[in-house]
Amino acid sequence: MYPHETPAMRLSLLLLVAAAAALSAPAAAQMPPIIVPPPVIVGGGQQPQVPPVGIQQPAQPAAGAPGALSPEFYSQSCPRAERIIAEVMQSKQMANPTTAAGVLRVFFHDCFVSGCDASVLIASTQFEKSEHDAEINHSLPGDAFDAVVRVKLALELECPGVVSCADILALASRVLVTMTGGPRYPISLGRRDSLSSSPTAPDVELPHANYTVDHLIQLFTAKGFTVQELVALSGAHTLGFSHCKEFADRLYSFRDKGGKPEAFDPTMNPSLAKGLQAVCKDYLKDPTIAAFNDIMTPGKFDNMYFVNLERGLGLLSTDEELFLDPRTKPLVERYAANSTAFFDDFGRAMEKLSEYGVKTGAQGEVRRRCDAYNHGPVMPK
Ligand code: HEM
Ligand SMILES: *[C@@H]1O[C@H](CO)[C@@H](O)[C@H](O)[C@H]1NC(C)=O
Ligand SMILES: *[C@@H]1O[C@H](CO)[C@@H](O)[C@H](O)[C@H]1NC(C)=O
Ligand SMILES: *[C@@H]1O[C@H](CO)[C@@H](O)[C@H](O)[C@H]1NC(C)=O
Repeated sequence: MYPHETPAMRLSLLLLVAAAAALSAPAAAQMPPIIVPPPVIVGGGQQPQVPPVGIQQPAQPAAGAPGALSPEFYSQSCPRAERIIAEVMQSKQMANPTTAAGVLRVFFHDCFVSGCDASVLIASTQFEKSEHDAEINHSLPGDAFDAVVRVKLALELECPGVVSCADILALASRVLVTMTGGPRYPISLGRRDSLSSSPTAPDVELPHANYTVDHLIQLFTAKGFTVQELVALSGAHTLGFSHCKEFADRLYSFRDKGGKPEAFDPTMNPSLAKGLQAVCKDYLKDPTIAAFNDIMTPGKFDNMYFVNLERGLGLLSTDEELFLDPRTKPLVERYAANSTAFFDDFGRAMEKLSEYGVKTGAQGEVRRRCDAYNHGPVMPK
């Protein structure tokens, strides 16, 4: 169960779906069933399958050039790695359908802060703070971390010390995107795990829900991502939810650019705004209240996020603004009209994101547990 999830939150989510039904949009308003493909490994149940202990093989060097990622990286050293990750994620997603969104978001945060190196997974200790401290403020879901712990346990039994936590996050994100209806894209392997994790970096490196499109473009292009990739990746908000504080300024005491008070952000569909005002009214007392990012098909990876933006149904101001800015609007329209175009571009952008700032070869390490460095906590000087 999602640790922050309360009965109030679940109720609010339901109310919102009901509110969505009242909107003019023709789409089905019920939460659709999560699309889950047949289990990859026969015998998959609700519990993660602990694979039989195989012959223990030593960690192997990269298959391709030294230091390069390769799709075959574990083909000798841990051939079942991908199947094990798929199986564990499958059962976790079935038990808790918020897993896919949680893992995908954790992966994005990992990659944007010091590269895809599992730095986001390091737990703070008494001696040393980590990204986790800042990430708690970004309310990353505990479910995602739990899913990674389970995968790592299974992989350490199968082939100890071989599969990096960074590769686990990359493969887990892909399998969950596919499982919820999204595209399957290539993922190369051989990422190494970081030896550091900064508690202050996330607040600088990650986009905030109150950013302007200018800010977003600056942040993404500074990391080598195009405007098109920014829009395509934002389509990840077809899954999951956001807490009221992330969009409350659109609902209460809203002022337009000239300072004139308004009942709510006029770029938001009025039915949605009124629904959210009701749902979020106690959010300061109960910060767990949340709403689906894609109120039409919240559990399905599809292009509905972009269709929503055209109808004023974007939840975060950064979402809706993608439809209002002339640099991003044509892309929103393209993805709303053509789901194949969205899936193609999202897949390519995810592949690129998954290789952003990776450590390979002799850099970093392969962690034995994903939440701690192998050398243990750093002692105070
Ligand atoms: C473009 C700038 C982005 C901004 C400003 C942004 C902001 C946010 C915020 C504020 C939340 C809600 C967090 C909460 O209340 O718990 C959220 C959720 C989420 N974000 Fe983003 N995000 C951005 C891009 C991305 C990208 C590129 C991805 C992945 C490729 C992503 C994946 C997600 C997912 C899956 C969720 C739902 C998480 C859950 O349900 O647990 N976001 N985002
Ligand atoms: C997270 O939020 C808490 C409480 O608002 C604050 O004390 C702490 O400094 C924040 N941490 C970071 C890294 O921003
Ligand atoms: C945006 O929100 C963050 C906290 O999420 C806050 O620190 C910052 O001041 C806000 N920026 C603007 C421009 O409102
Ligand atoms: C949708 O996008 C795909 C991929 O870019 C393209 O091949 C196809 O022709 C597009 N379909 C339409 C109807 O525009």
